[in-house]
Amino acid sequence: MEPAVNITDLCVSYTLNKKELKVLENVNLRAEAGRFVSIIGPSGCGKSTLFRTIAGLEKKYTGSVIVNGCDIRNSRPHIAYMLQKDLLLPWRNVRQNIVLPLELAGTLKNTDADFIENMISEFGLKGFADAYPDELSGGMRQRVALLRTWLMEGSVMLLDEPFGALDALTRKHMQDWLTGIWEKHRKTVLFITHDIEEAVYLSDEVFVMGPRPGRIVEHINIDIERPRKSDITCTPLFIDYKRRLVSALQV
Ligand SMILES: Nc1ncnc2c1ncn2[C@@H]1O[C@H](COP(=O)(O)OP(=O)(O)OP(=O)(O)O)[C@@H](O)[C@H]1O
Ligand SMILES: [Mg+2]
Repeated sequence: MEPAVNITDLCVSYTLNKKELKVLENVNLRAEAGRFVSIIGPSGCGKSTLFRTIAGLEKKYTGSVIVNGCDIRNSRPHIAYMLQKDLLLPWRNVRQNIVLPLELAGTLKNTDADFIENMISEFGLKGFADAYPDELSGGMRQRVALLRTWLMEGSVMLLDEPFGALDALTRKHMQDWLTGIWEKHRKTVLFITHDIEEAVYLSDEVFVMGPRPGRIVEHINIDIERPRKSDITCTPLFIDYKRRLVSALQV
């Protein structure tokens, strides 16, 4: 089967102070449909740049990026993208924030109302559809941003550090919740994180990037059965995966 995302020899450079800054150098990454794939790497190595490129926002690159069989140079990919910051609009309530991309794409129908109310419950926001972003906790805001991304039309989801700003306990809850929802719906997810434990816990496979210019230095399949529960984080197998990622990050 065609991979959902197939990136070959991707290079991206910016110009900084009139000098060329190489950000990505020969990145090769392949994600099969329905997989949960994490990308981990030091700050500034080009992870967000990689996502911007896949989403079609970075036009100046060499190499090829194929999404669901289509070269993104020729067609705009159907991708749901959650930026590193949640970017909820403060003047729109939860329901209005969630449907914004559908509204912009002109695909929002009145008949979707029940479906959207169901998803609001499924994402743990029941009773808050009419609340505004500043009336929500940090974890709830992240769930609103995730639901908005989830509803965007696209079989590939790009999530750029969705839990980065959360405290450890909320983060743990959100990981369990995301695992549950992903196991139920099985979309292809590319997930950026700085957190090694989070990468192992959530993923089918992890790509490790080296410092700028970013490239893939390691690719590890996480063969831990699902459904996963948080007690697996203490097993020797889990700890071994963490150790392998730590040593790959030190290359
Ligand atoms: N539009 C731009 N113009 C010039 N340089 C940029 C631009 N966007 C990013 N960069 C540079 O590219 C490099 C990679 O940035 P990027 O945001 O992709 O890193 P990152 O891996 O996502 O980092 P973090 O983990 O801190 O989010 C950085 O050195 C940054 O300064
Ligand atoms: Mg980033």
